[in-house]
Amino acid sequence: MSATVPHSLLLKNPTNSLKPTSLATQFGSFPTNLSLPTTTPKPFAITCSSAAATTTTPIPAAASTSASSNRVFNFAAGPATLPENVLLKAQSELYDWRGSGMSVMEMSHRGKEFLSIIQKAESDLRELLNIPSDYDVLFLQGGATTQFAAIPLNICQPDDVVDYVVTGSWGDKAYKEAAKFCKPKVIWTGKPDKYTNIPGFDSLEQSPDAKYLHICANETIHGVEFKDYPTPKSSNAILVADMSSNFCSKPVDVSKFGVIYAGAQKNVGPSGVTIVIIRKDLIGNAQPITPVMLDYKIHSENKSLYNTPPCYGIYMCGLVFEDLLAQGGLGEVEKKNKKKAQILYDTIDGSNGFYRCPVEKSVRSLMNVPFTLEKSELEAEFIKEAAKEKMVQLKGHRSVGGMRASIYNAMPYDGVEKLVAFMKDFQARHG
Ligand SMILES: Cc1ncc(COP(=O)(O)O)c(C=O)c1O
Repeated sequence: MSATVPHSLLLKNPTNSLKPTSLATQFGSFPTNLSLPTTTPKPFAITCSSAAATTTTPIPAAASTSASSNRVFNFAAGPATLPENVLLKAQSELYDWRGSGMSVMEMSHRGKEFLSIIQKAESDLRELLNIPSDYDVLFLQGGATTQFAAIPLNICQPDDVVDYVVTGSWGDKAYKEAAKFCKPKVIWTGKPDKYTNIPGFDSLEQSPDAKYLHICANETIHGVEFKDYPTPKSSNAILVADMSSNFCSKPVDVSKFGVIYAGAQKNVGPSGVTIVIIRKDLIGNAQPITPVMLDYKIHSENKSLYNTPPCYGIYMCGLVFEDLLAQGGLGEVEKKNKKKAQILYDTIDGSNGFYRCPVEKSVRSLMNVPFTLEKSELEAEFIKEAAKEKMVQLKGHRSVGGMRASIYNAMPYDGVEKLVAFMKDFQARHG
C-alpha cells in the first residue's frame, strides 16, 4: 500500500490526523469548526473477562445546556438528538475502544469486547426499567415496523382475535400489518377526532377471547401519550405496547406488559436497533411461517447474537443507558421531561390562540409537541426563522402539517427555553 494514502497517514500519526484541520485537508469541504478533542484521548484499561466491562472513565455528567456553539437544537422526531456528553464519549472511543486497538465497528460480535458491551447495555437497561427476571431483553433490527408483524407472528395463531386501540398513525399501521397474520379488531379509534385523545379504559369493548391488547404508548406524529395503561379483559390476554417514542422517558411498570417494543432512534440511540422486552413464557409459540429473523425464540436462545447484530448502535444505546443511570434513573429523567414540556405547552396555551395544540390536555405527550399557527400562512416563516436561530426540524409530519417539537430526553432544557423565547418573540412580531 502506498505510504501517501490518507489511511496510512492516519496510522503513522493518529494524533495530528484527528485534528480538524487535517480532516479538512483530507476531505476538502469538511467543516473546519468541529469541536473535536485537541488532545489524544487516553487509552482505557479494561477487563473483558466475562460479564460487563470495567468502565474506567464514566460518562461526564449530562449537560442541561448545550456546550458547543456549533451544535443546533434538533427537534427532529427521530433519528433525534443524542446527549452531547454521550456523543463526545463515543468520539473519544471511536478509533480505539478502551485500549482494544479497534473501533467498536470493527469488532467481532462474538468477541469478548463486544460481549461485554451488549451484556452491560442489557444489565443497565434492566436496572433503569427495573425489568423483572422473567422477562427477556432482545436487541433486534428492522425497526418497530418489523415488530408490527413479529408481534402477531409470535403471540398468536392465524385464527386468533387480537384487539388494537388506535390512537394515531403508528397504531393504525401496527393494526394493518397484524391483519396479515391473525384477526385483529380495532376496538377504539381516535381517527374521527383526528387522533387528539385516548379513550377511557372502562368504556373499551374488549374482545372476550383476545390474545392481546395492543397500544402505541406515545403517538409520535399526533403527540398523544398514554399516562396510564388499560388492563386486558381476558385473564390470558397480555398488554403489548409500542414505546418507540417514549421509551426510557419515565419509569414504567414492565410487569403490566407482555411485550414492550421500541425503535432506539428517538430516546436511546441511533436508528438500526430495536429493543424488545418480552415475558419469557410468551416465547416459543411462533407461527410456523415465521421467518427466522422474526422469531423471538431464536433471538432469545442466542442472546440477540443469532446473526450479526447492529453492534455500533447497541454500543451507543449502552452509553445512553449509562448516562440515564448517571442522571439518577428514569424518575429524575421524567422530572426533567415534565419541566421541559410544561414551559412549551404553557407558551402555546398562553398565546391567546396564536399557537394551538389540538391534543386533549390530559393526554398530551411529554415527547412530541404538535402545534399549529392561527395564521397558517406564517408557518413556513416560523420554521425558516427558527432554523436561522439554530433550532431545526420543527416542521410537523407531512401527514398532519403544522409544527412539531420533539423534546426527547436528550433535548436540553435550554433548547426548549430558547424555543419558547423565540415563539414569544415571533408572536410579538407577527401577532
Ligand atoms: C411510535 C412509533 N412506532 C413505530 C415507528 C416506526 O419505527 P421504525 O422506523 O423504527 O420502523 C415509529 C417511527 O417513527 C414510531 O414513532
